[in-house]
Amino acid sequence: MLNPDASTTDADRELPTGAAELPGPQSRAWFERTDGHLTGTMADHELVPFVAAGKRGYLVVDADGNTFADHMSSWGASPFGPTPEPVRVAMDQAWREHGMQISGWVQNEPALRLVEKLVEIAPGRLNRVEYSVTGTLAVEGAVKFMREATGRPLVLTFGGQYHGESTYLTAGASSDLSNVTSQRAQYVAGILTVPYPNRFRSPFRTGPGPFDDTEVLDYLENYVLVQQVHPAQIAGLMIEPVLGEGGIHAPSQAFWDRLDALAKRWGWLICLDEVQTCMGRTGEMFGMQRWTGIDPDLMLLGKAFAAGGQPIAGLLGTDEVMAGSDLHLGSTYGFTPAACAGSLAGIGMIEDEGVLDNVRELERIFLEEMRPLVDEVEQVGDARAVGALAALEFVQDKATIRPAPSFQVAVHQAAVRRGVLGITQRGKWHLRLQPALTMPPEVFRDSCLRLADAVRSVAAEPPPETERVLDTVAGSAR
Ligand SMILES: Cc1ncc(COP(=O)(O)O)c(C=O)c1O
Repeated sequence: MLNPDASTTDADRELPTGAAELPGPQSRAWFERTDGHLTGTMADHELVPFVAAGKRGYLVVDADGNTFADHMSSWGASPFGPTPEPVRVAMDQAWREHGMQISGWVQNEPALRLVEKLVEIAPGRLNRVEYSVTGTLAVEGAVKFMREATGRPLVLTFGGQYHGESTYLTAGASSDLSNVTSQRAQYVAGILTVPYPNRFRSPFRTGPGPFDDTEVLDYLENYVLVQQVHPAQIAGLMIEPVLGEGGIHAPSQAFWDRLDALAKRWGWLICLDEVQTCMGRTGEMFGMQRWTGIDPDLMLLGKAFAAGGQPIAGLLGTDEVMAGSDLHLGSTYGFTPAACAGSLAGIGMIEDEGVLDNVRELERIFLEEMRPLVDEVEQVGDARAVGALAALEFVQDKATIRPAPSFQVAVHQAAVRRGVLGITQRGKWHLRLQPALTMPPEVFRDSCLRLADAVRSVAAEPPPETERVLDTVAGSAR
């Protein structure tokens, strides 16, 4: 656990104000001036109804002085609240010494120091590093490596995963609803998708579980690999150790064991997309370390890898996959010296400051405070947490467990007014909390209590839902 005297100050323990009226006048003035120039989520203020003026402790402060406990954490890229001192100092020094540098061509000490550290902490046979700048690029690079190393065309993915926003694998396999509603999801060849293992909601049956999450492997073995493709056409599989954007699902050990056996039998490479789960998020340095037996061939890093500093992502691979490769994947901005120095400082904080213990404590608190809601509130179907990845899944009723996306948005909005900024997206039916890994337990518990209050207030007058999930996207056809 973080030493409360040494590293947690009173400012870190400040609790949020929230606000009954959002957006406030200053935020509204900004929206009026700039909305005509923005698109997509930047022009949509129903989910985040304020303009941020900055961060203080573990709070986001808006332009009107209202504060919100930050459970979005820059979608995972700010693992320590505001960029911490050791990360800033390391980045500043690298800036002074190197400025901008193209690390793919001009080797420099910050980049090489980071490579050495990554190889030291990487699990199993991973001992090569390819530089990158975003998770999306790392994913696309991994697909190229898998195909080059095996000479096979197909990549197996798991439905509900998220891999970013480019046009290839990400558009073909990402869970972001906009890929469906914009109708650009179906034109991508070379990707084979089976559902992500899910113990709460089965893709093969209706009604409540709990389900055996290995049934998806029965489907893969008995149908897909018999009727659709020969297993020897599959280069490898791309899997998130914990389904992040898809709602915090943690596969069972039995699932991993069977998946591993299949991969070994057919020569599939295993690529772990750890963009969301790496660097302590699950209470282990890497998410897959919550289980045993998987020895990855590739592993992708992003988000918290930047330690709240500058953009950076990476691919770790084995000699077999990477040593003889001709691929050139890095970007101009990949592994800039300052980004590497900041990342290295962040890894040091995780190793030295009891961060992983704090993450496990946050998991415990979420389950303690939120699980009772499943019994208490008809619309709370499930409460899940893996480290500092936590989700509530909402249902229309317990008998059908039909999804309740409107309930989810209403709870999110009620929680924001109470000072809790979680992660939500339209068309999904889970609400996530993704606090900083270092958030003081008492601040986190306070947010859980506020969120529970928001749930109860919405449950008192639940919003109407559509009967079929399909209706949430069908209406968006242009
Ligand atoms: C598992 C996973 N992979 C890849 C990405 C894409 O990363 P980026 O947004 O840095 O491109 C994300 C982003 O949310 C992610 O969660």
